[in-house]
Amino acid sequence: MAKKKTLFECQSCGFQSPRWMGKCTSCNEWESMIELSTEQIKFLKETSSSSTTALSKAKPITQIEEDNITRFTSGSRELDLVLGGGIVPGSLTLIGGSPGVGKSTLLLKIAGNLARASQKVLYVSGEESAGQIKLRANRLEANHDNLFLLPEINLSSVIAEISNQNYELIVVDSIQTLYSDETPSAPGSVTQVRTITFDLMRIAKSLHIPIFIIGHITKDGSIAGPRVLEHMVDTVLYFEGDTNSDLRLLRGFKNRFGATNEVGIFEMNKEGLNDAKSMAGKFFNKEKLQSGSALTVIMEGSRPIIIEVQALVSESYGHAKRSSTGFDNNRLGMLLALLEKKLDLPLGTYDVFINVSGGIKINDPSADLAIIAAILSSYRNRELSSETLFLGEVSLTGEIREVLGLSQRLKEIETQGFTKAVIPNKPMEETKVKCFVADEVSKVVEWM
Ligand SMILES: Nc1ncnc2c1ncn2[C@@H]1O[C@H](COP(=O)(O)OP(=O)(O)O)[C@@H](O)[C@H]1O
Ligand SMILES: [Mg+2]
Repeated sequence: MAKKKTLFECQSCGFQSPRWMGKCTSCNEWESMIELSTEQIKFLKETSSSSTTALSKAKPITQIEEDNITRFTSGSRELDLVLGGGIVPGSLTLIGGSPGVGKSTLLLKIAGNLARASQKVLYVSGEESAGQIKLRANRLEANHDNLFLLPEINLSSVIAEISNQNYELIVVDSIQTLYSDETPSAPGSVTQVRTITFDLMRIAKSLHIPIFIIGHITKDGSIAGPRVLEHMVDTVLYFEGDTNSDLRLLRGFKNRFGATNEVGIFEMNKEGLNDAKSMAGKFFNKEKLQSGSALTVIMEGSRPIIIEVQALVSESYGHAKRSSTGFDNNRLGMLLALLEKKLDLPLGTYDVFINVSGGIKINDPSADLAIIAAILSSYRNRELSSETLFLGEVSLTGEIREVLGLSQRLKEIETQGFTKAVIPNKPMEETKVKCFVADEVSKVVEWM
């Protein structure tokens, strides 16, 4: 008798194996392998064989004409910026973020903007009723005859609606709630998400319609359920920012049509999520600078933003703790070791906590010097001058390295009314900001 064919699939990354494993060898997730049913195996076979039936021939690259990408505006300056200059027709974009961060709000607003600009838009929601969405649309002033709502969780109904109408933009809220009849597994599982994303990708490319997919993320910040989704779409954007503040950052993680270094900044208010008017003063409080706080200016894409970093250094009872929010914990460990070595500070017996204001996650190494200044300020219990900013990347040897875009940063410092800056090297251009050069960690102390 022929042995029954078995196939197991990882619910986290989609890796398949004929044998069950306690830990996925591809993504190292535990207990994530589940057995696929005979129907699922049959479906996978059919879909993979159908894609190889049409024979295509390779061509020399010199004979190929490049795609002509003509973007159009989303009506939001900030979203256009993270997308790399606007929406690309036929692109599939994933917008992820924790619950309540503003995913539905932003996309309904964009849908409204485009409807007003006489584009026909479809908003598919498997999460909320049409009445609920209408309520939100009233608040966002997104009511328009060109905006169509479809409360639906069945993919074939969504596809039928799209094929019968000539929509110019589609929003799917959310990928985890849609399901396809073609595969028997539950909504949100790897097979479901893969089938749905594959179908949406096919529609986007063949009909040349941009599609935005909303995805929920788990506490650790990855997309809930399958990571395969991130690999399949053209663009991945994630919301950052704590829900206590009204600022939201939309960061690009993957973009097949542009750079991923830009960040969109939005403000949540009762009319919804709008482009932040000005970043000035949003991430720091000049009047209330206390001991343990230091100011710096980081580059987010092409923009300089002044932020406040805070440190709390307190005597430890037991094992010394190091913890940071918005700053890399390993980097904090390195800076502390350096302070111990170069300045003889007994930090091994102190707990050190770091916090970055406004829910920003620092990726720019130029904030190192400000973190050091904040730690020293907290350790000595002496506040820093609220007129001074600190910028510079610190190396393992304690040397302070040059930062990129120094003149742009100094210009922002000047515009925001600050008068002094501790920087790693002399500025090339003239500035009203009084600059103190600190090329080594030990020298920073002189300027504090
Ligand atoms: N009537 C309202 N007035 C002001 N803010 C609201 C109102 N209704 C909802 N919000 C805010 O909008 C935020 C974003 O909601 P939503 O866009 O549904 O988030 P997501 O889709 O990311 O889960 C919520 O956290 C809530 O605070
Ligand atoms: Mg939502």
